[in-house]
Amino acid sequence: MKGILLHGGHGTRLRPLTHTGPKQLLPIANKPMSQYCIESMRESGVKEIVIIIGGAGSNKVKEHYGNGEKFDVKISYIEQDYPRGIAHAIRLCKEFVGNDKFLVFLGDNIIQRPIIDYVRNFTDSDAAASILLCEVDNPSRFGIAEVKNGQILRIMEKPKNPPSNLAVTGIYLLTPKIFDIIDRLKPSWRNELEITDALHMLLEEKNKIIYNMITDYWKDTGTPDDIINANGAILEKMTPYFHARKESNVSVEGKVMVGEGTVIKSGAKIIGPVIIGDNCTIESDTIVGPNTSIGNNSKLAKCQISNSIVMGDCNIESNIKIKNSIIAYNSTINYDPKEHDSKVFLLGEGTRITL
Ligand code: TTP
Repeated sequence: MKGILLHGGHGTRLRPLTHTGPKQLLPIANKPMSQYCIESMRESGVKEIVIIIGGAGSNKVKEHYGNGEKFDVKISYIEQDYPRGIAHAIRLCKEFVGNDKFLVFLGDNIIQRPIIDYVRNFTDSDAAASILLCEVDNPSRFGIAEVKNGQILRIMEKPKNPPSNLAVTGIYLLTPKIFDIIDRLKPSWRNELEITDALHMLLEEKNKIIYNMITDYWKDTGTPDDIINANGAILEKMTPYFHARKESNVSVEGKVMVGEGTVIKSGAKIIGPVIIGDNCTIESDTIVGPNTSIGNNSKLAKCQISNSIVMGDCNIESNIKIKNSIIAYNSTINYDPKEHDSKVFLLGEGTRITL
C-alpha cells in the first residue's frame, strides 16, 4: 500500500513558529512531528510515500526526509501551490496512487498506537474508505462523524451543534474512488476542498465507510497548547537513556533521556519526563522538567523550566521560571531579576530577548 503525508497548510494558529518552517517539522520530544507519521506508516507496511509540500520552508522538508533512505521508505514530493484543502492535496496524488488502496496521514496528527491492524482490516474489506474516530471534549473544533449501530450516518466539518463527540482523525484509508468524488466537490465556506465533504459524498452515494475507535492517545497539534500536551504524552512513553556526563550532586528523578556530549553540572535538577539532546550544557542552579524537551546544543543556566519545548541552539541564562512555552531554534533569553519570576514564551526562530 502507498502512503500520502500532508505537509502543507497555513499553520496560522502556530505563528510565529510557522513563519520559518512548516508546523509538521516542529519537534516533539526532539523529533519532527511528521517523522512519527512516517514511522507509523512504515510500521504498517507502507514503503512508498509521497509528501505534499507547500508554503514557508518546504525546502526544509526535503532536506530532512530526502529520498527517504534514512527512514527506510521511498519518498517523493508533490508541491501544492496554495493550501486549497486536504481533499485538494489528496487529489494531487491520483497518478502516484494508481489503482490501489492507499493511506493518508496528516503530518500534524500524533497517534501512539500502531495502525497495522486497521490497515489490514481495510485491505481485506470491500469498503470505499476507513476512518479512525476518537472521542473529544470540544467536538465543534473537529470533523465529526454521526454513528448509529456501528454504521456511519453522516460526516461533517466543525459542526455548530455536533451530533456526537466522535472526531474524524487525520488518518484516512482510501480507495481511488475518492478522486472522482473530489473532482465533483465544491469549496467550503473557508474556500477549501474538505475531506469531510468528500467522505460524506462517498456515503451519500451508497459507498461503505468503515471505522475504528482510537482509545489511546491521539492529538491534532494545531495550537501551541496541543504541541506541549503531545510533547508530555510522548515523553511519558519513552524508554530512558543517559549518555551524558553527570557531575556529582545532580538530582535526576523519573523518566529522563539525555544525549551524547551533554554535561549536567553539579547542583542541577532534572525532573522527568524530560529529554535533553546532544551537546547541551545544563548549569548548576537549573531545574529542568517535568514534561520538557531541550534540543541539541542548547545551554540553560540559572532558570527553572517546565512543561515546555526548547529547540536546538538556544541559550537561556536567566533567573526566571519558564512554563508552558515553546522556544524555537537559535533563541536567546537573558534576564536577571532579583527573584525567580514566572514567564510564558512563544518564540519564533532566532529570537533574542533581554529583559
Ligand atoms: P489544518 O490544521 O486544518 O490547517 P492549517 O495547517 O492550514 O493550519 P491553521 O488552521 O492553523 O491555519 O490542516 C490539517 C493538515 O493538513 C496539516 O497537516 C496541514 C495539511 N494541509 C495541507 O497539506 N494542505 C492543505 O491545503 C491544508 C488545508 C492542510
